[in-house]
This record gives sequence, structure tokens and C-alpha cells, in this order.
Amino acid sequence: MKTIAIMTTGGDCSGLNSVIRNLATQGLRRGHRILGILDGTDGLTQDFAPNFVEFDYNTLPPEEANMAGSWLRNGNRHALNFETAKKTGLYEKFTTRMRKSLKAMNLDALVVIGGNGSLSIAAKSQSVYGNLQLIGIPKTIDMDIPATDTTIGFDTAVNGLSTFCNQLMLTGRSHHRWFVVQAMGREVGALALHAGIATGADAILIPEIKFDVGNLCRHIENIQKEQGRDYGIIIVAEGIKLRGHSGQPADMISRELTKRNINNRTAFPEHTQRTGDTIATDRILAARFATAALDAIDNNETYVMTSLDGSTVKTVPISEMINRGAAKPDPNIPNMFIANAFVPDDHPLLSVAVSMGAYIGEIKKTGINNSTR
Ligand code: F6P
Repeated sequence: MKTIAIMTTGGDCSGLNSVIRNLATQGLRRGHRILGILDGTDGLTQDFAPNFVEFDYNTLPPEEANMAGSWLRNGNRHALNFETAKKTGLYEKFTTRMRKSLKAMNLDALVVIGGNGSLSIAAKSQSVYGNLQLIGIPKTIDMDIPATDTTIGFDTAVNGLSTFCNQLMLTGRSHHRWFVVQAMGREVGALALHAGIATGADAILIPEIKFDVGNLCRHIENIQKEQGRDYGIIIVAEGIKLRGHSGQPADMISRELTKRNINNRTAFPEHTQRTGDTIATDRILAARFATAALDAIDNNETYVMTSLDGSTVKTVPISEMINRGAAKPDPNIPNMFIANAFVPDDHPLLSVAVSMGAYIGEIKKTGINNSTR
């Protein structure tokens, strides 16, 4: 029997509760004691720390496990985390409290369900986590975590965003207008790309591929002229930039379309991309990642994260994330690197988008197959 704590950190996404319930119920069935830390690192560092619940089979019932958000919550905006503690000179106080709370909880293992920031920092925080078995489970709608083919929450976000776009397409048709939809994703275009394909968007702009706004407008004009369709979806990732423009990327593109008399509106699905009942593929991934995390704990592994590799779920050292990704220095913590994963030039969906007739930018200089254009 081991005492295992679960913690959710960083931005939420749909699927967290499926992971939590699976860890709790599968862990209980194996004879472990399962605790849930409340409010991420706040639950380990605030005055009332350690703040946690102990799970039984009914603590998080199955009908609630498929709803968005984190039942354990992710932390208060004003409370400290590793980065803000460093920035404000409170790092020693913060980490001392973390150590004290983890010791008081008498833990054998800690499962951190986190994004690229939390997992990168956890990988380098042995001085805080000490001999605990530390297991990461990757989650994010941004799909920016290296060393895994997918993350908890991504499929549900793609599904929600595609549904949103499909609905806009219907009102767009009524009013002969295009919708410029801004997808989340930080500096990564994976969410926009996947939702763009699922929706049948006519243009998909992502930070990884340079685009020419004049060519984008000509592409839309051609569809109007040659296909006789004057509505549709242009999906833009929030990380794109347009020289000489500031403000929201969707607004920048919209202004350029308007200049060319292309009737359009913008739409910002914003945090709805992190909500919605968890879809089946994410629920299944959650169950599989929980099994792999518990197997790792039972096998005495530590500083590993669960990973989907093709159709196989396995654990890999968390450090692989940083070694395999495009790591960048953390602006707040010296000698700390945050792993990042971008859409590569050979991503199979890029040539599919081209084959579907979508404008995805100036791809001549990349390795993307444009033979169908
Ligand atoms: O990392 C997840 C994410 O939803 C990004 O896609 C987005 O840029 C950001 O978080 C939004 O953060 P906040 O919830 O703090 O506005």
C-alpha cells in the first residue's frame, strides 16, 4: 500500500476529472491510499496547507468525471507558484513550505497532471520533491508537450472548436459572410490546424508557417468567384503575427479582408475551448494514462511521465520532454528550460489541408507537399 497524491496545475482542460477519477478508483482497487491536493501548489504552500482530500470510490462519481474543469482546482491567480515565487524573491519560503507539506502528508508518490511548464519545472525540482516518486501526466489544449503524441484535453478542445466553427458556418451562409475564428494554443498551431481540418476551413493560419495576407485574400476571392461560395471559416491561431498590425490576430485578418470588400466577422471561442464534456477519446486516454501512472508507481519508477507513442502508452523520463522538444529558457527561473513542441513541417495534416484546398501560408520554402495546388 502506498500513499499517492494527485495535483492539477496550470491552465485547465476537459479530461482532468477523468484522469483524477481513474487514478482514484484504479489506485483504490490496487490497495493504495489516494489523496487529492486542492488548488495545485496553493494546497501545499498557503497558510492552511497541506490542503487535501482523501478519495473513496464515491468522492468523484463517474457521472461527474466526464465534466470539464478540475474537481481538485488549479490554484488561485494571486497565489505563488514556482515562477512567481522566484520573480518576487519568495522562492525559499515557497519551496520550504512545499517540502514541509509533502512531508506532513507522508507521501510515497505524487502524480502531477500538468502542462509543459509544470512538468518541465517538476523535472528539475528534485530538491523539492526529494525521494517522492514523481509521475507526470501531460495535459493541455495547446498540444505543446514533446515526447508524447497527444495530451489530455486536446481532442475535446478540437471537437468543441470544430462544433463552434460549424455553427458559425450556418449563420455565415445566411448572411453571405466569412468568419475569422481565433483558436487558442499560445505560440503553437496544433489546435487551429486540427479544428481547421475537422471543420473544412478555407484557410488555416498557424505561427509555424509564414503567410501573405494578400494571398490569403486572393484565395478567398477565388473561392467566391470560382466556387460561387461566399461564406466559410478562416481559422487563425492566437500566436500568429502580422507585420504592422497589433491587437488580436483575428481582428488583424478581419481588417484586411474588409479592405478588400470581403464580408466577414470575427469570433473568439476563448475559454470554451477548455470546456465541454470530455469526449470518448480523451476519456479513454485518461484511463490509459492513469493505468500507466499507477503501473509506474507500483514498479518504483520516478521522474517519469506518461506518453502515447503510436498506439502504445508508456512512461518516459520527464527529462526527455526537454531533450526532445524545442526548449526555451524560463524568463523567471535561471537555468530552467521549458519544453515546447511545434507543428513540424512534415506534420501529415499540413498536406491534407493543402489537398483540401485550404490556404495554410507560403509553404514553398517548407517541406510541405504542395503538388495538389
Ligand atoms: O495553455 C492553455 C491556454 O488556454 C492557452 O491556449 C491560452 O493562451 C492560455 O491558456 C489562456 O490563459 P488564461 O486562462 O490565463 O487566460
